[in-house]
Amino acid sequence: MNHFLDIHKTDKDALRGIIDSARTIKDARKGQPKAALDADLPLKDRMVALIFEKPSTRTRTSFDVGVRQMGGQTMVLSGSDMQLGHGETIADTARVMSRYVDMIMIRTFDESVLEEMAEYASVPVINGLTDRTHPCQIMADILTFEEHRGPIAGKKVVWCGDGNNVCASFLHAAGQFGFDLTFSGPVQLDPEPEFVGWARNQGVNVEIERDPAKAVDGADLIVADTWVSMHDAQSARERRHNMLRPYQVNRDLMNHAKPDALFMHCLPAHREEEVTSDVMDGPNSVIWDEAENRLHAQKAIMKYCLEG
Ligand code: CP
Ligand code: NVA
Repeated sequence: MNHFLDIHKTDKDALRGIIDSARTIKDARKGQPKAALDADLPLKDRMVALIFEKPSTRTRTSFDVGVRQMGGQTMVLSGSDMQLGHGETIADTARVMSRYVDMIMIRTFDESVLEEMAEYASVPVINGLTDRTHPCQIMADILTFEEHRGPIAGKKVVWCGDGNNVCASFLHAAGQFGFDLTFSGPVQLDPEPEFVGWARNQGVNVEIERDPAKAVDGADLIVADTWVSMHDAQSARERRHNMLRPYQVNRDLMNHAKPDALFMHCLPAHREEEVTSDVMDGPNSVIWDEAENRLHAQKAIMKYCLEG
């Protein structure tokens, strides 16, 4: 069994295998007769716990649908309704849950919760987002990019905005999949030096460029995310908006990139804040494919967790 905790903690070949497997899984659903799909049910008779300590639309729905398509069943649990939210340790929760279920996906705040869960669980644990990373999202993003533009290795990805958890997983993916990443945002919201240093140590080009128009020059992919993440204090909202407004992805900024540069956003998006509707709904945007690919990428991740 394998956990899927972070992109930089997963073997490069395994990551490539997950992307390839996701494509196969996606294609199979489109072309296969029902009988063939029914014969391939790796989660048959298995129960997967989906634990949420933060809100979710895509992660919750795509994992739930994915598990059912693979023949399994889900139990969606809210952290605050569990004893976990009332003083029971993560380790004890992990030990008990492992006696009931075959896999655990958790969305939580502090990454130490995820790590403790993985250390004490005897079933695979999947990171469904923490304050620091969001690896399932970026696996879907790699799948989406490669479907539209071929191999991502050697391409230029530009992150515009807050150097947050999704940006961190993009830095990890840059190191593992071999693409260049330029961060463009205010100095106060730079990605953590640990993540930038890790990616640079893998030999990829990581640039920090404060001028977004210069940053997107030659970009193959431009990525935006919310200016206020779920773990950010709402009291910081106005200050963050003021700092981040120059990094909005709009038509003018897209015109500085390659004409066929793709636009991605993990969603939920705040229209006319981090991205304008003309970009979100425009010809370069692949956001709906990106959301769909959460399903296919996560099915491949669950297969990897069970089968290696
Ligand atoms: N992108 C993403 O993880 O969305 P949800 O918060 O809706 O799960
Ligand atoms: N950075 C965002 C991503 C949401 C999917 C957050 O953590 O709220």
